[in-house]
Amino acid sequence: MTGHDVRDVALADHGAMRMEWAERDMPVLRSIRERFGREKPLKGVRVGACLHVTTETANLMVALQTGGADVFLCASNPLSTQDDVAACLVERFDIPVFAIKGEDSQTYYSHIQAVLDAGPQFTMDDGADLVNTLHTERSDVLHQVWAGTEETTTGVVRLRSMATAGVLRYPIVAVNEALTKHLFDNRYGTGQSTLDGIIRATNLLVAGRVVVVAGYGWCGRGLAMRAKGHGADVVVTEIDPLKALEAVMDGFRVLPMAQAAPIGDIFVTATGDLNVVRGEHFRVMKDGAVVANTGHFNVEIDIPALEALASSHRTVRDFVEEYQMADGRGINLLADGRLINLAAAEGHPASVMDMSFANQALSLEYLVGEGRSLAPQVYDVPQAIDQQVAQLKLAALGVGIDELTPEQVEYLKGWQQGT
Ligand code: ADE
Repeated sequence: MTGHDVRDVALADHGAMRMEWAERDMPVLRSIRERFGREKPLKGVRVGACLHVTTETANLMVALQTGGADVFLCASNPLSTQDDVAACLVERFDIPVFAIKGEDSQTYYSHIQAVLDAGPQFTMDDGADLVNTLHTERSDVLHQVWAGTEETTTGVVRLRSMATAGVLRYPIVAVNEALTKHLFDNRYGTGQSTLDGIIRATNLLVAGRVVVVAGYGWCGRGLAMRAKGHGADVVVTEIDPLKALEAVMDGFRVLPMAQAAPIGDIFVTATGDLNVVRGEHFRVMKDGAVVANTGHFNVEIDIPALEALASSHRTVRDFVEEYQMADGRGINLLADGRLINLAAAEGHPASVMDMSFANQALSLEYLVGEGRSLAPQVYDVPQAIDQQVAQLKLAALGVGIDELTPEQVEYLKGWQQGT
């Protein structure tokens, strides 16, 4: 595959308009792009990116290009691509994009291969499919990769497994681990955009409904908080006693999924693990129950089990598939169990992606500066970058904070002063 592969380049104008709208809410990335334009820290560097192709990602790609990088982009999920944005990057910015919303699995992986064909020196991944394909199928390209970054929790978990197994061949900075990433993107971004996706797909009123949130990590916390704000009766399911306790103290009911299944109206998985909602749960769900996933992969809902239990299924709205049970109940699966916020809505708003992608851009600059000196491990984002992103965001929001007085600095260093 050469050049690009997008739905329709004629969509470029529409994509440009939407990209510009997102850019207005990305002041931190804008300031980095402006500096990159002056300093060109990525000059001549080839970057292979596998990210959700959204307006926010497009602004990141342009920032990297402005810094001097040659960027190649494919989708990190078959359903998350915004076709107008893909067109805009090709037409207006001459960036090779390989991504079409709704592409099948074979096309999805052929697009990853197309990015790898470009021979990237750096990878920028979201979920580690690019890194995985590199390590399992493309040893011809692997040796020339210097380093990479990873955007999401699921990708970091996979990369740490690779590092533990001793198979990871180059260093990767886990952008997800930056506080200015997961405290905002995972929590407020997922919280809002997941509800947005469910509401756009179903147009259901959330108020008064029982919303079951599976998993109380940062994404689950954000989602539970926002569902509560909509007036839902929120039930949390967990496997971790600490997180379960936190959910209880945050004011949520915590139940095992087996007890939540018969009372829930809307189920959302946010765990990163397999078959969280499965046959035994579908069997007892209410007629009309809605089941969605907001985790990275479409493995959290056991769709084969749902298919096996159903006598038939049909599309009742865009992104809503109703499964008919033999006893007459209907169970509605959203977006084929793929991440609902990107499939049925537009993903996280620009304001939080601003910080996530500022971490991406600055981590890449850091890795370019390190050359080939780092060992093949998973690294945290340097703390100075995290601090810088927080400072830039506060400045952009016009929020001032205090500084410690010299007396306070001394007090914190000392141990003699007590009661
Ligand atoms: N992940 C979640 N929301 C996103 C967005 N708007 N752009 C890119 N990646 C995302």
